[in-house]
Amino acid sequence: MNICVVGTGYVGLSSGTCLAYLGHQVRGFDVDPKRAASLREGVLPIYEPRLDELFRLSRNNLTFGGDLALAMKDADAIFVTVGTPSLPDGSPDLQYIDSAAEMTGRISPPNPLSSSTSRPFRSAQIGEWNRLSAKHTGKTIERRTRVL
Ligand SMILES: NC(=O)c1ccc[n+]([C@@H]2O[C@H](COP(=O)([O-])OP(=O)(O)OC[C@H]3O[C@@H](n4cnc5c(N)ncnc54)[C@H](O)[C@@H]3O)[C@@H](O)[C@H]2O)c1
Repeated sequence: MNICVVGTGYVGLSSGTCLAYLGHQVRGFDVDPKRAASLREGVLPIYEPRLDELFRLSRNNLTFGGDLALAMKDADAIFVTVGTPSLPDGSPDLQYIDSAAEMTGRISPPNPLSSSTSRPFRSAQIGEWNRLSAKHTGKTIERRTRVL
């Protein structure tokens, strides 16, 4: 499968690398250009046990860049794995989710969208995601959006 990963942090990079190791073609997109550049050089910006080894073994199935349209092109599945850091009052900061919804919505995702496992990203956020995506695409993707 062709898989697009939006946000190449702990969850996106780890899951993307595992999927690439299993033989899928994985394209990672991140708003941080330094992160994509570092990954293209084969330098991992995070540590997870054995991730460097799996990354090396899967290198041919992994690409990274700052062009979301290219990353989403022909994708069979799109994993959104952007951060949801805590705000001072303890509630999750959903600004990155919002921006990812808007950015992917503008490109009109033709295929399933999945969010990363995230406590705050529940049904209410799915509704918001669909609203933002629908605003840019003119169509709803509700039944194709899943929380994993
Ligand atoms: N890290 C964990 O162990 C863990 C475990 C379970 C769930 N989660 C959840 O998974 C999600 C991701 O967490 P993480 O730890 O991987 O975050 P992270 O901060 O390590 O990575 C997030 C990445 O998303 C990028 N990003 C932000 N906005 C973007 C956008 N609009 N488009 C593309 N990239 C964008 C950032 O530059 C960053 O590289 C969060 O919701 C978190 O709660 C994390």
